[in-house]
Order: sequence, then structure tokens, then C-alpha cells
Amino acid sequence: MFKYVGDISNIAHNIINTYCEGREVAVDCTLGNGFDCDFLSERFSKVYAFDIQKEAVERYSQKNKLNVLLIEDSHDNLDSYISEGIDVAMYNLGFLPGGDKSITTKSESSVKSIEKSLELLKSGGFITIAVYTGHEEGQRESEAIHKFVTTLPKSIFGVMIHSFANRDSKAPYLIIIEKK
Ligand SMILES: C[S@@+](CC[C@H](N)C(=O)[O-])C[C@H]1O[C@@H](n2cnc3c(N)ncnc32)[C@H](O)[C@@H]1O
Repeated sequence: MFKYVGDISNIAHNIINTYCEGREVAVDCTLGNGFDCDFLSERFSKVYAFDIQKEAVERYSQKNKLNVLLIEDSHDNLDSYISEGIDVAMYNLGFLPGGDKSITTKSESSVKSIEKSLELLKSGGFITIAVYTGHEEGQRESEAIHKFVTTLPKSIFGVMIHSFANRDSKAPYLIIIEKK
């Protein structure tokens, strides 16, 4: 087991834990099994959590977390639910492990959602995007997101990509965006 060079979700958690100073509002843009949501709910005063799958939202609602607002809708509609500034948005793209692989995040809605998150992001805030290219839509999505994040103005946003150098080209990777 690697301590650092392993799971990209853990790397995202470590970065948020270490560098994100504002601990008020977080958004989990892909709730799924709720691991990221648990992480965020333990550290932020309020967490908005989106998933298009009813089962994911219903399952998480059983945890009765008072600071988590569960939203059964696509993350590209986040501006219909959130009007305040956010400190963090997490994206863990793709499909639910062990679930229906046809219910996956999609290029267009993911880029639209990231664009909207960036507008809400407070100064000093972070967006983490775990990208999975091992399936067809994931490959398209990866290309669309890469194209979008590389055009972000460097005077406002720092963008880094953490990828494995010695794994095959389909290995997942992590994009980190920090707002100045
Ligand atoms: C890889 S899983 C997320 C894993 C999750 N963060 C966790 O900690 O378990 C991706 C999730 O994104 C959800 N999803 C797909 N398209 C979506 C969309 N447009 N808006 C919100 N969630 C979406 C899927 O239903 C799936 O549950």
C-alpha cells in the first residue's frame, strides 16, 4: 500500500484538509456512496450533495446528517440551489462502483457544472476533480474537462493535474483548481 501515491480521492481529501482555510460551505457534486460527503460533513459547516440517482440520495439520507443538504438533481443545476459562496467543490466523476455503469457523469454537464462551481468559489477555495478515463464517456469527459481547465485565467486560478507516471494511460487522475 502506498501512503501518498495511491487513491486519488485520498489525495483530494489531503489537499482539502491541508490547504482549505474556509470551512463553511462545501459541495459534493457526485454523492455516490457518500465517502466524500462523510469527509466533507465532518469538516464543513454546511454541505450540499448532488446525485441524479434516487438510491444514492435515499441511502445517504438515512445517516441523518444535519449539516448535509441532499439534492436529487444534476450538478449542472447547482446554481438553482446554491447562491452563497463556496469553499470547496468535489467531483468524483464516472459511475457508481458496483452500480449501473450507464448512469455516469457526462462531458457537457460536468463542464457546465465546473464552470458554475468556479463562479461560486470563494477566494482561497478549491475544486477537486477525480477523472476516470477507463470507459468511453470517461475518455470524452476527460478531454472536454482538460480543454476547459487549461483555458482558465492563470491570474485567478491555479490548476494542477496529478497523474500516475508509471501506470497505463487509462489510470484515473486528479485535477486541482485553487482560486487566488
Ligand atoms: C464515482 S461515483 C461518486 C463517488 C462518491 N463521491 C463517493 O464518495 O462514493 C459518481 C456518482 O456521480 C453520479 N452522477 C452521475 N451524473 C451526475 C450528475 N449529472 N449530477 C450529479 N451526480 C451525477 C452517479 O450517479 C454516481 O453516484
